[in-house]
Amino acid sequence: MLIRAFYISRSAGPQTSTITGSILKTALVFNKVHQITGVLCQGTGFFLQMLEGERAVVNQLYGRILRDSRHKDVEMVSLHEISQRKFSHWSMALIDLSDTDPMVMMQHPEFDPYSASSELLSQQIDEWVVSGKPIRN
Ligand SMILES: Cc1cc2nc3c(=O)[nH]c(=O)nc-3n(C[C@H](O)[C@H](O)[C@H](O)COP(=O)(O)O)c2cc1C
Repeated sequence: MLIRAFYISRSAGPQTSTITGSILKTALVFNKVHQITGVLCQGTGFFLQMLEGERAVVNQLYGRILRDSRHKDVEMVSLHEISQRKFSHWSMALIDLSDTDPMVMMQHPEFDPYSASSELLSQQIDEWVVSGKPIRN
């Protein structure tokens, strides 16, 4: 049974490329082996991540992500059973919000994932993906 889990969190410290690089390095290896796909948006102090895969595998991974000290205030935004993957070609794409920051601020000056609906947040991620923001997979 496939699910898509979507959570947000706040970075515990500055979002350096070293930290992002080390998260992605782990993610790309683990996710490929365990058929997890998805997207990680990071920057401006937040993480927004969609994880797709078998329910048990996604839940186990989410458990580890919850305990990761590199972020805090981890909040599940939505969790759905899905019939097909949205990010089937990405073990974990990275979207750097600091690149998109001016756009985010112009379009959504109040952008705060904690007060946005899951629909708005999903739409925002779709827009970033379509506008070619994913920079790694
Ligand atoms: C924002 C964020 C996203 C992460 N995404 C993934 C991921 O997609 N896949 C993965 O294997 N680890 C991911 N991690 C790393 C896990 O939290 C954890 O460090 C890793 O699964 C190793 O687990 P362990 O430290 O319990 O051995 C992420 C960490 C953070 C902070």
